[in-house]
Amino acid sequence: MPDPAVPPFLAACRRQPTARTPVWFMRQAGRSLPEYRAIRGDGSILDAIKVPDLSTEITLQPVRRYGVDAAILYSDIVVPVHAIGFGVDIAPGVGPVVEAPFEREADLARLRPLEPEEDTPWVLETVRQLVDELPAAVPLIGFAGAPFTVASYLIEGRPSRTYEKTKAMMLGEPALFSRLLDAIATLSLASLRSQVEAGAQAFQLFDSWAGALSVSDYRTHVLPASQRIFAGMADLGVPGIHFGVATGELLTSMADAGPDVVGVDWRVPLDAARSRLGDRVAVQGNLDPEAAFAPWPVLEAKVHEVLDANQGRPGHVFNLGHGVLPGTDPDQLTRVVETVQAAGPCAAAGAAAASG
Ligand code: CP3
Repeated sequence: MPDPAVPPFLAACRRQPTARTPVWFMRQAGRSLPEYRAIRGDGSILDAIKVPDLSTEITLQPVRRYGVDAAILYSDIVVPVHAIGFGVDIAPGVGPVVEAPFEREADLARLRPLEPEEDTPWVLETVRQLVDELPAAVPLIGFAGAPFTVASYLIEGRPSRTYEKTKAMMLGEPALFSRLLDAIATLSLASLRSQVEAGAQAFQLFDSWAGALSVSDYRTHVLPASQRIFAGMADLGVPGIHFGVATGELLTSMADAGPDVVGVDWRVPLDAARSRLGDRVAVQGNLDPEAAFAPWPVLEAKVHEVLDANQGRPGHVFNLGHGVLPGTDPDQLTRVVETVQAAGPCAAAGAAAASG
C-alpha cells in the first residue's frame, strides 16, 4: 500500500508502491520557460547562481507551472571546479570552456578539495531557502557531475563530440586519468554531501557523456571513481540517481556504481531496461525530449508507451530521456505531467514477475 506520508518521488526511488507515477524533468529549471527568461537577465549562469533569491525562484518556477513531483536545483555541473579556481567558464551558446585544459600531472595541483561553506556558500543558501519554500510532497534533488563527464570538459577544454584528448589520456596515461577522476570524485562528493546536509532529499550524479565509452573502458577507467561517490553518500540515507545518455549497454555497470535509481534514455524501451537491471534499482525516464515537438495526440501516445512499458511496477520515476530542449513549448510539458499523474498507481503486485 502506498504510504501517503512519503512523497511519491522518494517512494518510487526506493521501489515502494505509489498512488501514481511521480514525474519531473531534467533541465526543467531554466531553458524554455518564459518566466525564467523574464527574470534571468544577461551574464553567465555561474554569476546568476551567486544570487540565492534568483536561483531559488528559478528552481521553483517549474514546480509551480508544471506541478512536478520533484525540484532540481538551478546550478551547473562545473560549479565546483569553477569555485576552486580551475579556470572554467561557461561561454554563451557553447557551454563549459577551460582556459588552460588539464594536460599533465602538474595540473592535478590545480584541483584542490572543495570547502563548500567557503567556496559555494550561495549554493547552500539556495538549498536552505528551497527546503523552506517547497511543498512537503516535493523533494529537492541536489546534483553533481560524474568524474568522467566533468573530466571530458577539463581535458577537451570545450564541449566535444569525439572525446579524442579524453580517450587519449584514458588509454595512454591510465594512472594519470585515474588520479584526475579521483580528484573530481572528491569534489563532486563534497558538493553533494553539502547539498544534502543543507536539506536536499535526493541527489543525481550526471554522467551525461559516459555513453561514449565501451563497457570495458567504462568498467576499467570510470566506474571506480563513480562508485566512490555513491559509497561516500550512503551514510546520509537519501536516494541517489545515476544518469547518462546513450548508455543502454552501460545500464548494469552504472547500477554497479551503487545508485538507487538508474536513468534510462529514450533509445532503450523501459521494459527492456528493467529486465536488464532486475529488481536491484528503480528506473527513471524515458520519453524522448524531441517528442515534445510532436502534436499533442502523438506526444500523449508516447507518454502512454513509456507508462505501459513499466507495467505499473513500483520503482519508476517518469522523466525525459535527457534534458528539456530550449525550444520546448511549456504547455506540452504541462500536459505530460497531467497525463502521467492521472494514469494510476505503481503498485502492481504481480508486475515484478512480468519483468522476467
Ligand atoms: O537555460 C538554461 O538552462 C541556461 C543555464 C545553463 C545551465 N548550464 C543550467 C544547468 C547554461 C547556459 C549551462 C551551460 C552548460 N553546462 C552547457 C551548455 C548550455 C546548455 O544549456 O546546456 C552544458 C552542456 C553544460 C554542462 C552540463 N550541465 C551538463 C552535461 C549537465 C548535465 C545535464 C545534461 O544536460 O546532460 C549540466 C547540468 C545543468 N546545467 C543543470 C542546469 C540547471 C542541472 C540539471 C537539471 O536541471 O536537470
